[in-house]
Amino acid sequence: MQNDPAYFTWWQRPDLGYQQGELSFAGTAVRELIAEHGTPTFVYSKQRVANNIQRLQTALDGTALAGRYTILYAMKANRFAPLLQFLSKQGSVGIDACSPNEVAHAVACGFEPEEISFTAGSLSQQDVKRLSEFDGLFMDCDSQHAIKTWGQLKPGTEIGIRVNPGLGVSRAGNDRLQYAGDVTTKFGIYKEQFADALELAKQYQLTVSKIHFHTGCGFLTSELNQLDQVISACLWFVDNCPTVKRVNVGGGLGVPHFASDNPLDLEQWAAVLAKHFAGRDIHLEMEPGEYIVKDCGLLLLSKTYLEKKRNTLFLGVDAGFNIAPEPAYYNLPFQPVPLIDPQGDAAATLEKVMVVGNINEALDVWYEDALLPDMSEETHLVLINAGGYSTSMASNHCMRGEFKEVLLD
Ligand SMILES: Cc1ncc(COP(=O)(O)O)c(C=O)c1O
Repeated sequence: MQNDPAYFTWWQRPDLGYQQGELSFAGTAVRELIAEHGTPTFVYSKQRVANNIQRLQTALDGTALAGRYTILYAMKANRFAPLLQFLSKQGSVGIDACSPNEVAHAVACGFEPEEISFTAGSLSQQDVKRLSEFDGLFMDCDSQHAIKTWGQLKPGTEIGIRVNPGLGVSRAGNDRLQYAGDVTTKFGIYKEQFADALELAKQYQLTVSKIHFHTGCGFLTSELNQLDQVISACLWFVDNCPTVKRVNVGGGLGVPHFASDNPLDLEQWAAVLAKHFAGRDIHLEMEPGEYIVKDCGLLLLSKTYLEKKRNTLFLGVDAGFNIAPEPAYYNLPFQPVPLIDPQGDAAATLEKVMVVGNINEALDVWYEDALLPDMSEETHLVLINAGGYSTSMASNHCMRGEFKEVLLD
């Protein structure tokens, strides 16, 4: 992939790229951001987040679904308080939360419980009790256990049921990112148990007004046919539950990670949704996380060493996979980008480099075959696509859990 001529250009866009040979992000030279904030630091662009949401809205508004949808930001992707506060002030999205602490955090950042939809599994009695205290919070039950425990505390209310169609959609069929398929997963209620679930809801006078599904993550344009099939399969549940007024189609919208990736065509995505829902009296919800925040973030790093071992040139940096686990967990590397335009200087020779972190684990590799200019004099490096599922999944492994986060205007 490093031989692709688009390697240094595919990720560039008006707010991220080289200006006069220097990397710039959100209107500021990255070198200045590093001087001001140090490393390792995640910098997020407010404007990019707003643009990503705007693009989703424009695509949906161009279909018959205009005025009949709600975007819920999946806060599990990034819960940085200033980011959530910014979103709550903007008022363009609600929240998809997946734990009582996430709900409390969203409320503390300015969201009303009515703006929050909750979907998660394996809830304890204590979890459900805490959730039930947020008046107005909407509960999607992903098991009969959840229906029962919620029904005991909140009889007579409306709920959603998370369903599992036995079919999923994910980036290039990556099974680590797929939540439904041939293999039985913990997510949602299957067709075989749906009648029992409805019966249970009835016992507690719960009205099932929403069907929810989220079957995988990271899909791009080439996976839209699969999304189309997933939705078709999920309509069986809608058709077998006459009280349904809302359908939540989950998140899963992906962003490119490689030059060879075809970005998600939002018009085609919206057309798939419109094809299934335009003719139905249904309000649609979607809960993207990655699409809203992933490409709004950079991870600023310092070089620690550059050394050849056998035939491999290693470039070490001052943070490891524990503060941004996606590359290691899901094989979705964040491309390393130099601060000086490697294409600007005709004499620059490019080298193949393995970029590694500072954690004592074999999987602590940021990028196996990065193509970089001579880094012997350079002191810093940036990883792109670090805005989602990084700090929200971070750990203190090796007691190296420190990082800074900054929301840029
Ligand atoms: C129920 C649910 N909704 C939404 C999302 C957000 O997914 P993504 O960030 O891929 O859009 C997830 C992610 O795991 C999820 O589990």
